[in-house]
Amino acid sequence: MAPVVAAVEPFTSLLKRLQPQDDGLGDDTGSTDVKPMKAHRRESDPAAALAAARHEFGEYGGVNMSIEASITFTVMEPDTMRRLFAGELGPERDDLYIYSRHFNPTVLALGRQIAVLEGTEAAYCTASGMSAISSVLMQLVGAGGHVVASHCLYGGTHALLSSFLPRTSGVSTTFVDTDDEAAVRAAVWPGETKVVYVETMSNPTLAVADIPMLVRLAHEAGAKLVVDNTFTPLVVSPARLGADVVVHSVSKFISGGADIIAGAICGPASLVNSMMDLQDGALMLLGPTMNAKVASELAGRLPHLPLRMQEHSRRAGEFATRMRRLGLRVTYPGLPDHPHHDRLRTMGNPGYGAGGMLCVDMGTEARANLLMHHLQNSTHFGLMAVSLGYYETLMSCSGNSTSSEIAPDDRARAGISPGLIRVSVGYNGTLEQRWAQFERALAFVQQEIPDAGAGKPCNAV
Ligand SMILES: Cc1ncc(COP(=O)(O)O)c(C=O)c1O
Repeated sequence: MAPVVAAVEPFTSLLKRLQPQDDGLGDDTGSTDVKPMKAHRRESDPAAALAAARHEFGEYGGVNMSIEASITFTVMEPDTMRRLFAGELGPERDDLYIYSRHFNPTVLALGRQIAVLEGTEAAYCTASGMSAISSVLMQLVGAGGHVVASHCLYGGTHALLSSFLPRTSGVSTTFVDTDDEAAVRAAVWPGETKVVYVETMSNPTLAVADIPMLVRLAHEAGAKLVVDNTFTPLVVSPARLGADVVVHSVSKFISGGADIIAGAICGPASLVNSMMDLQDGALMLLGPTMNAKVASELAGRLPHLPLRMQEHSRRAGEFATRMRRLGLRVTYPGLPDHPHHDRLRTMGNPGYGAGGMLCVDMGTEARANLLMHHLQNSTHFGLMAVSLGYYETLMSCSGNSTSSEIAPDDRARAGISPGLIRVSVGYNGTLEQRWAQFERALAFVQQEIPDAGAGKPCNAV
């Protein structure tokens, strides 16, 4: 394997091809690798940016790109191999590839589209969201380093920061309410904090991070702001607001099919280059590579992601409003009294609403379970399943599932109550059909527990 990774050098030039179309305004970062996005491009609609990106055609003129399934690539002359390994030849300049853990044309084409979507110079597609998150953190933080993270994160990320990285790399994390500017400042270890880490919209409490404020605090501390944008593709573009790195669980909304596990790291070309370094690049050495067939599948789903997000958001907004009218304790950032409603409106991209996730707090786990039981088994409103971004509605009780890695006290501090049902609102069927199913399920619950669902509207995050 050693000679293969020696070919890291061509990646720099490859990334020049990965950037969105040059706007001709030049470079304002001093980077010699790739030119950065300019301000007006940062403000553009991500769907428009996607549509303006280079269309990848198939080998025979097919309207879809071909799948390059090979993991290894041949050359015509022995000396070409030497030159590839020496970095004299590479994918961009010469359309020459070596090995697919390194560069694969199909996976790179998907990465280019995801970079355009998020408005970053480059993106690298990985085998899962967790591999994207763990690789970035290991790369940016390093042994013994420090992270300031939101106290409300996906349970797997929380466990990575609170258990795995401390054990394997001596990395420590201070979890704080990242809305509290003073708390974030106080949590910084001068000179040692390398990353401030948040989710744009927190899993599962749907708190919306103040990204411009966190960019400022992270940069004052000499750290990078890394944002998990899994819940809000298109709704918010963190890199356009100044975030240094955006990570995704592509398994969710971006895929939309609940049939693929995948991830992405979006950021400067220099970061992706460093992660491909022969000696200490986390992507190169941990190898969480995406398969080319998976990349091809996902590339076919990106063009309708904007439409899907709009419909997820429209239905979630409508259901949240109606649930609120029924007196349910519903949390949805699109509701005007959500504490981060105005923040989301300021930060968000116009036309994509407030996202497809909402939460209903039934007070106790037993009530939450009863409602989910009727919603799935009596009225077929949705499915009891973790994950999100599927065309069917998915429901889970976060406290005993995707946030169960977080200790009960920390869950309580983060606002994850035992009766909290996280709902990923789907878009199949008609809205009125689904709403009737919801109301019937709630009526069943109220027959069995008369005061279920009664209670003050609550948007505590
Ligand atoms: C916000 C968030 N980030 C990351 C992940 C991990 O992604 P994956 O399952 O693709 O590894 C998840 C999974 O649920 C998630 O909800």
